[in-house]
Amino acid sequence: MRARQLLIMRQKDTGENVPITDVVKSSLRGRQKQEGGIVKHRVGAVVLAVVCFTLGLVVQRTYDAWHADRLQLANEQPVTVKPVWTPAQVDRSKIDFSKQPLWAWGATEPPKLDEKQAVQFAPGVAPAAPTANLSPEELNRGRHVEGSRIEFSIAGVRAATNRGGIVDWFPEDHQNPIPDIITRGPAALGKDAKACGLCHLSDGSGRPENASPAGLPTEYIMRQLNDFKNDLRHSSDPRKGNSNTMVMLAKAMTNEEMRAAAEYFAAVKWRPHEQVIETDLVSKTRIQGELFIPTAKELTEPIDKRIIEVPADVEANQTLRNSRGTWIAYVPIGAIQKGKDLVTLGGMKIVNGQIVQGKTTPCGTCHGIDLMGVPPDVPPLAGRSPSYMAREIFDIQQGARNGSNSNVQLMRMVVAKLEPEDIINITAYLASLPVERQSQDRLVLRR
Ligand code: HEC
Ligand code: HEC
Repeated sequence: MRARQLLIMRQKDTGENVPITDVVKSSLRGRQKQEGGIVKHRVGAVVLAVVCFTLGLVVQRTYDAWHADRLQLANEQPVTVKPVWTPAQVDRSKIDFSKQPLWAWGATEPPKLDEKQAVQFAPGVAPAAPTANLSPEELNRGRHVEGSRIEFSIAGVRAATNRGGIVDWFPEDHQNPIPDIITRGPAALGKDAKACGLCHLSDGSGRPENASPAGLPTEYIMRQLNDFKNDLRHSSDPRKGNSNTMVMLAKAMTNEEMRAAAEYFAAVKWRPHEQVIETDLVSKTRIQGELFIPTAKELTEPIDKRIIEVPADVEANQTLRNSRGTWIAYVPIGAIQKGKDLVTLGGMKIVNGQIVQGKTTPCGTCHGIDLMGVPPDVPPLAGRSPSYMAREIFDIQQGARNGSNSNVQLMRMVVAKLEPEDIINITAYLASLPVERQSQDRLVLRR
């Protein structure tokens, strides 16, 4: 009704209602009758105006359509890629969790059957709340770590890490300027990105709960990043949120970012970070962020079948993110020698003058006799975190970690028969080794 009313106009003279279009037509006719010749000019002007208006409309419409196409095209350019957090695709149904070295995951129970895949730092996941309730003075007080002239407050460290950025205590330990990928993370993730140096520390020294990419061969790092990206490498435990985040970050990286990160980490000189101590008893610990933190000085708890790897200095390593921080790995008594037997001889024994093959192959066959790795494919093992190595051995054994390099399948055969206790012994021995290339005359297999 309302629409129809709008189109109707009341005729002044006759008083009847007529549609508005008819009013325009008849008024034009009326004027023609009254004003004769002049009317023709007026009509010409009106027609011209209508034509101009219509032309203008057509031009405007055409421009709009063309402009919209252009906008559409611009939106399809890779420059404006939206943040992409792509979850890992992995089948964990065949993993035998009864053999999982739980201590290496900072866990006390294996994952549940229907355990959901945890993700650390993904958008929407709130950062862990600051643990200590410090006064403003304490928060802002300048702090130091041994060997560094730089001063940071806890507030400063938190501000950097809450943004997903890094804390750089030792600029002399790495190349400068640091590539953006290390300080900010993959550009495609925008403000949700996490810097490589956030978890792996400014120079890639890494921590037991993640990995130490510092000093690894460039091509090995490139392959790992691509293997994460292509869902070939995963943690067997779905609760390992930081490994899942690592996969998502790799999926968001460009090839150029991967290369910049790989070259940066590969150029870092590898320093020892581990001290291995054999013991029956350890101090009580709590598990925080997949890591054991001592809660007392006294050694009162049986070590049992575990390695307990703890920060040598809790404030420097945990609160201040010191890249030169060191770690103490408490291992069961006798573990280092048993590990040496497996690593150097594969557990082979001579019984009654007969060689009895062991359950594995000497690791040096591929990892180099000094266990410092063989570039470009085989990573070093000497002096690395026992927790990290134990997780990787289990992941490779259980097939959660695969790779584009066929040697990973060989590595799987090598570790296929290892029991949880063998993994403790092997990683205790490997972690205790010096982080240095040995001269040729020392490269002799000795028991
Ligand atoms: C959320 C913390 C986190 C961030 C941020 C992170 N990583 Fe990782 N990274 C990990 C974890 C955890 C692992 C071990 C994965 C596993 O095997 O379970 C890992 C493993 C690696 C490895 C394999 C090392 C080896 O010895 O095989 C490389 C290389 C690596 N990361 C590079 C990077 C780069 C480059 C970036 C920046 C884009 C990055 N990481 C950002 C947590 C992180
Ligand atoms: C047949 C050759 C071969 C032998 C023998 C071998 N490995 Fe490996 N290992 C590899 C290769 C290749 C890789 C790298 C896999 C990849 O590219 O993902 C690897 C990776 C590893 C890793 C993961 C390192 C990292 O940075 O993530 C650990 C830990 C490891 N090996 C331990 C051992 C131990 C312990 C032994 C001996 C019991 C052993 N390996 C014997 C070939 C071998």
